Amino acid sequence: MPEDPRILELREKRKKSRLGGGEKRIEKQHAKGKLTARERIDLLLDPGTFQELEPFVTSRKHDLELGGEKLLGDGVVTGYGQIDGRTIYVYAQDFTVSGGSLGEMQGQKISHVMDLAASNGTPVIGILDSGGARIQEGIYSLGGYAEIFRRNSQYSGVVPQISLVMGPCAGGAAYSPVLQDFIIMVEKKSFMFLTGPQVIKSVTGEETDFESLGGAATHLGISGIAHMAAPSDQDALALARRLVSYLPNNNMENPPYVEPADDPGRMDEVLNSIVPINPQTPYRMHDVVELVVDKGSFLELQSTYAQNALIGMARIGGYSVGIVGQEPSVLAGSLNIDAADKIARFVRFCDSFNVPLVTFVDSPGFLPGINQEHGGVIRHGAKILYAYANATNPKISIVTRKAYGGAYIAMSSKYMDTDVTYAWPSAEIAVMGAGGAANILYRRQIKAAEDPEAEREKLTQDYKDLFLNPYASAQAGYIDDVIEPKETRPMIVAALKTLRNKRKQNLPRKHGNMPV
Ligand code: HXC
Repeated sequence: MPEDPRILELREKRKKSRLGGGEKRIEKQHAKGKLTARERIDLLLDPGTFQELEPFVTSRKHDLELGGEKLLGDGVVTGYGQIDGRTIYVYAQDFTVSGGSLGEMQGQKISHVMDLAASNGTPVIGILDSGGARIQEGIYSLGGYAEIFRRNSQYSGVVPQISLVMGPCAGGAAYSPVLQDFIIMVEKKSFMFLTGPQVIKSVTGEETDFESLGGAATHLGISGIAHMAAPSDQDALALARRLVSYLPNNNMENPPYVEPADDPGRMDEVLNSIVPINPQTPYRMHDVVELVVDKGSFLELQSTYAQNALIGMARIGGYSVGIVGQEPSVLAGSLNIDAADKIARFVRFCDSFNVPLVTFVDSPGFLPGINQEHGGVIRHGAKILYAYANATNPKISIVTRKAYGGAYIAMSSKYMDTDVTYAWPSAEIAVMGAGGAANILYRRQIKAAEDPEAEREKLTQDYKDLFLNPYASAQAGYIDDVIEPKETRPMIVAALKTLRNKRKQNLPRKHGNMPV
């Protein structure tokens, strides 16, 4: 029987829509070391699972034509598929069609998959590669962006939203990824900025280029906007798949439990001697985290930004957790403006999706300095307090060494409604360090002594014996137990099991007013 011509026409149309802006432009995309929208989706999702939506949509306001025919898809490929068997909604801008620029219909297509993701309770991943607002469509393209920004904001905390920035993301377009939970960039291939180098030069006279203005290194290390970066499209997509494995589908579900290959009862002897006896000698909290979590499961986020703090996803005994900590080998683990922003936003993320938080504390307090004060360290630091205090997800904290002053209170102390609080024998929980305290408390006594230095030393030691140990806090009930460092892993596993069905709600209100 001859084939139905309507089926042949459909096949022809599908073939055309798959070619986006045509073979030449695809070649150009490959020559830049970039994959096409469809190739990216195929690598992101489990093989063969992608189902496309709205492939025949065309621009209404301005015909994007190729060889006299309207281009199908309007510069974005949208649909759904699976990652490790879990449904994910996805959209990928197609740079071969008018530079992936966003017009009215592209905006509608993206909004549609976002709506489907929200109502079906599944994560949504956007792959961005676009020249921004489609100039020919004027106000209609702005409307398209506005629709997306509104959804990014309203679905925040409903379903996880991840952006893969894999090319240009310029102008107001950059607001969509930052309204989402995570941004992954591709080194040297992607950039985000509000105003480009030419505009900056004409307004301020400053010379810059795309890479230093808004490349991956800039947004990972300086602005703190990006969470991860990878050397290629393939690696970035693999990172996104890995990130999804830690996240729940939506705010009503628990994050996935994965049968651990690593013994939940494993006790690593190295932990017992990892904190140096001399409190001034640094060690790496990264090492502590790696030794406690399921082997190889720590996925650090914002690794080159505010390195005095560390955040990331991990598994402990198969349970997905958010890790927060100080890094005592950088700025002695003190808290500053950038660290506060980094920690607070991550705590808010974990709480919004009920991912348990495990906090490792070693901080001498907030970083002193005029720049910090003038920059609003009080306001920024308060974000940590606000985030922990309001978080109703399971919270566990371990004080490994210093927990002084405001840093003690803010960093998931028992006062912040933390469910389980442990301290190592090396913990020093106090208002401040011994030297400073003795100088203030016993100034006259030291001055009047025959040998002031010896007196200072003696009084400092007295203070240490009295306050700088975990037992004073344990006696006061401010920590639940003092544990051997090597016991940390099994103790956390036990706590996570217990807290799995935690139910807590703050008092009814429209929403709080976080210091931002
Ligand atoms: C329409 C666009 C476009 C745009 C690129 N193209 N950007 N078409 N609207 N915004 C088209 C080009 O004409 C070209 O078409 C194709 O896409 C590829 O672009 P090239 O310039 O050849 O590519 P490349 O050299 O890689 O440069 C990419 C680029 C550059 C850096 C993104 O195209 C660029 O600077 N574009 C303009 C960026 C911009 O100013 N956007 C508006 C920002 S304001 P052909 O037919 O030749 O293939 C904004 C406001 C949003 O976005 C506000 C929301 C709140």
